[in-house]
Amino acid sequence: MDHFELKNGALYAEDVPLAAIAAAVGTPVYVYSRATLTRHARVFREALSALPRVHLAFAVKSNPNLAVLKLLAKEGYGADVVSAGEMHRALAAGMPGADIVFSGVGKTGREMAEALDAGLGQFNLESEEEGVELAAIAAVRGVVATATLRVNPDVDAKTHAKISTGKSENKFGVPYDRAAEIYARLSVMPGLMMRGLAVHIGSQITDLEPSRLAFAKMGDLMRTLREQGLSVTHMDLGGGLGVPYRVGETLPGPAEYGAMVAEVTRDWDATIMFEPGRVITGNGGVLVTEVIRVKPGAVNPFVVVDAAMNDLVRPAMYDAWHDFAAVQPTGERITANIVGPICESSDTFAMARDVDAVVAGDLGVFRTAGAYGATMANTYNSRALVPEVMVDGDKWAIVAERIEPATILAAERVPEWL
Ligand code: LLP
Repeated sequence: MDHFELKNGALYAEDVPLAAIAAAVGTPVYVYSRATLTRHARVFREALSALPRVHLAFAVKSNPNLAVLKLLAKEGYGADVVSAGEMHRALAAGMPGADIVFSGVGKTGREMAEALDAGLGQFNLESEEEGVELAAIAAVRGVVATATLRVNPDVDAKTHAKISTGKSENKFGVPYDRAAEIYARLSVMPGLMMRGLAVHIGSQITDLEPSRLAFAKMGDLMRTLREQGLSVTHMDLGGGLGVPYRVGETLPGPAEYGAMVAEVTRDWDATIMFEPGRVITGNGGVLVTEVIRVKPGAVNPFVVVDAAMNDLVRPAMYDAWHDFAAVQPTGERITANIVGPICESSDTFAMARDVDAVVAGDLGVFRTAGAYGATMANTYNSRALVPEVMVDGDKWAIVAERIEPATILAAERVPEWL
């Protein structure tokens, strides 16, 4: 459910016509709906209300925009960060350090030190080596780092290979069979307070069974550790719940996910932590674009839009589907290829797709672009870095300005010896 709807024949974000934003800011532009983001944050929390103790850490990587983080901070969310850059964003948005979890397979010593200085709540360790290093950095500072051990449960999340993280060949976590001995060794290190386990098997998960299996395995491991006299008070179950990208697609939603988690974890007696990203932000944003021209093709016409793979990389990178719709649909339909202006064939949003008929100058949107959209944008082909807007009822504001190619050029230098 989202708040991008047709009103009197034109597409709106809440009470603001998308055409008005496009006219003022230009295109391409991401537009987020505050009401949609808030709704998703509440629905996810509500879905977990049967659990006695819950910590919600929004996966910043899915949408790190400061205004989005501020909204989620107000909803009581902490953050899951994977770099010092993300950590500083979460702190800048007002999230308390104690509510921030530091994930990621390549935290540098410097990042760990910065995180300790910021009073970060939890490090999700991805290896014994990382734990040893963190313990040493903490000891030098005279503090104790709170940590969990991320375990690779060797479960196939049945999602796209590039966003699957829980199989043994993936780089994430420690092997399930070695986790107990590593946890035991890390638990006695001065400078480190091991308080639990973490798992995350992938993203855009549309079948709950792999997660159920992975969580059950984590429960078994938790019991093994406790039997050995080791303390486990926190269990971080990661993120990964998928969202519908196509009209009419039905997937297990937060309620089904919450029920599954409640069932698996019912006798855990631990704080259950979550790192949702896409399920909060995915449907909360669209990418607005203008049709540059329609060019005849061998089979179907090419609708060339002014958004490109640098603005929304998911179709090029993961063959991802984003629904396309006209901002002012006429009711007519065409079968077309939708492409951007970038000089490679991967700059294709859709092939032979049945879409609203559009002509040069028309506006269109790619839907469900709030997660892994703007955050993965780049400036390939010396294009601008795409701006972001947030709508709230009949108000709207630019929440990230367009970074023009001239600004990027101005940061480059030609050495005097050239
Ligand atoms: N926690 C950890 C440790 C993660 O690695 C991720 C995502 C999340 C939480 C959040 O997962 P979510 O709830 O958003 O599924 N760029 C890709 C997605 C990459 C996800 C990486 N990790 C895409 O556009 O589909």
